[in-house]
Amino acid sequence: MLILGIETSCDETAAALVEDGRLLRSNVVASQVEMHARYGGVVPEVASRQHLLQIVPVVEQALAQGGVSWEQVDAVAVTYGPGLAGALMVGVNMAKAIAFARRLPLYGINHLEGHVYAVWLEGHQPDLSPGFPLVCLVASGGHTDLLLMEGHGRHRLLGMTRDDAAGESFDKTARVLGLGYPGGPAIQRASQGVKLEELHEKLPRAWLPGSLDFSFSGLKTAALHRARALGITETAASDTARQGEGSPSGPPAADLKDRDVTALATAFQESVVDVLVAKTLEAAAQTGARGVILGGGVTANARLRERLRAEAGETPVFIPSPGLCVDNAAMIAACAYYHALRRPPDGYDLDVVPSLKLGSL
Ligand code: KG4
Ligand code: ZN
Repeated sequence: MLILGIETSCDETAAALVEDGRLLRSNVVASQVEMHARYGGVVPEVASRQHLLQIVPVVEQALAQGGVSWEQVDAVAVTYGPGLAGALMVGVNMAKAIAFARRLPLYGINHLEGHVYAVWLEGHQPDLSPGFPLVCLVASGGHTDLLLMEGHGRHRLLGMTRDDAAGESFDKTARVLGLGYPGGPAIQRASQGVKLEELHEKLPRAWLPGSLDFSFSGLKTAALHRARALGITETAASDTARQGEGSPSGPPAADLKDRDVTALATAFQESVVDVLVAKTLEAAAQTGARGVILGGGVTANARLRERLRAEAGETPVFIPSPGLCVDNAAMIAACAYYHALRRPPDGYDLDVVPSLKLGSL
């Protein structure tokens, strides 16, 4: 079964072709990151307009890249939530138009469930080996959820963030440190090569004992106060970075400030990773899960991936390659295959649900 997936929930216009939920035939992502970077975050109106401009060429490119004609496509899948309403609408209407014109079944897919299915695209079959139940950590720009996947389409919410999402805290802290947008990759880069044993900065961790929930807003505020105390401002940090570029050796004052920035970035990343790793493994232990699946942009983080693999012990860990952790349409098509196996398609009345949840408590 060849499924065309479409994803427009945030700032990536994406289309992909996936066969039987596993075989990636094409994967096209048109990123708007540069367009939003100058504002320090996603501007919803700009995102919707870009999706409108990109959606047709992106879908055409997905077919061309896969060497596939319309006659070979068996179904259309699209993210219908959660996400930005105007952005979601572009994808949903495109998918409906294709389904109507080509008389194809249409499947609306939850973006968060989509993130869970990225691992199936890389030769893993966690449902067969090691089998259910599986703990899933979905950490993105808008969500930080711990889920127990008891079967395909059967998700129980174990914990979620009580305030900021992990990705949101990366983005906001990077902004305070003058590291630019998106913040996750910028903080990861800044922390590269920092020796932890020499790290003098330490930021708080919200353990929330007895709960699998998360909280990142206190950490973000602590990073902000520390940055102010060190004289780091959004522009000052980027100015010193620019000064450093100007002279090969860099002025001593700028060097010092850059060192403060990298130390703070590293301390911040360590705090987030500590909590994500500990709570994910705690969730697996509490539920007797047979394995752990990661998904969502934050799980592209190298330190998180390394730490989770190192600390999981005997528990199998499934982590998509970084390119499939961030938003893409292949995961939506992969997820839709398992929907198609167990439920009828959606009707043309499928609508966007910007605050769609995954898993009941
Ligand atoms: O899943 P995603 O691409 O879009 C949403 O569904 O939100 O996640 C985007 C988030 C952003 O906050 C971005 O800063 C974060 O994922 N991110 C990272 C990394 N790459 C992307 N966070 C930490 N480390 C990374 N390497
Ligand atoms: Zn996402």
